[in-house]
Amino acid sequence: MEGIIIMLTKKIEAALNDQLNFELYSAYIYMAMQAHLRFQGLNGFANWMQIQAQEESVHAMGFYNFIIDRGGKVVLKAIAQPKTEWKSVLAVFENTLEHECIVTSRINNIAALAESEKDFATRNFMQWYIGEQVEEESNANGIINDLKLAANSKETLLMLDRERAQRVFAFPLIPGGMKAPGAAAP
Ligand code: FEO
Repeated sequence: MEGIIIMLTKKIEAALNDQLNFELYSAYIYMAMQAHLRFQGLNGFANWMQIQAQEESVHAMGFYNFIIDRGGKVVLKAIAQPKTEWKSVLAVFENTLEHECIVTSRINNIAALAESEKDFATRNFMQWYIGEQVEEESNANGIINDLKLAANSKETLLMLDRERAQRVFAFPLIPGGMKAPGAAAP
């Protein structure tokens, strides 16, 4: 049996390909939000969104590599067009939280499907994403709370914008799914 790859079931392969597309869609949404914030001169919040989009691209590549490692076929589908306008910075981050809650529910559904299909390698792979979603929701929620406290104060908004300029990209190392450039997968 050595050397034989246990293939993904078609159902799991389709669910993983759908999520690969959804992570790319997430990157696309955050790029659109970045563009909107840059246009408004809020370069700190825009920086936060730029890094968010970079992270989503890596999340997508996690699924891409995992599908291949399991002997499946990656199928790239069209990415839906994101919104281009938001009525306030608060609306941008409320939309971010709303989107991340959808991602969480999708990730949970794939984990549940993997369990029901007794595909424990996929179930194990999904664990990293389950943990990541706790952070994703918490990050968006934290910014929403700050923006609500800022209320209509332009000074506080600018201070919050400058704080978000400090965010730097850290390559997300996804066990079993990610090959970081120049680094061995964990
Ligand atoms: Fe890849 Fe923001 O979830």
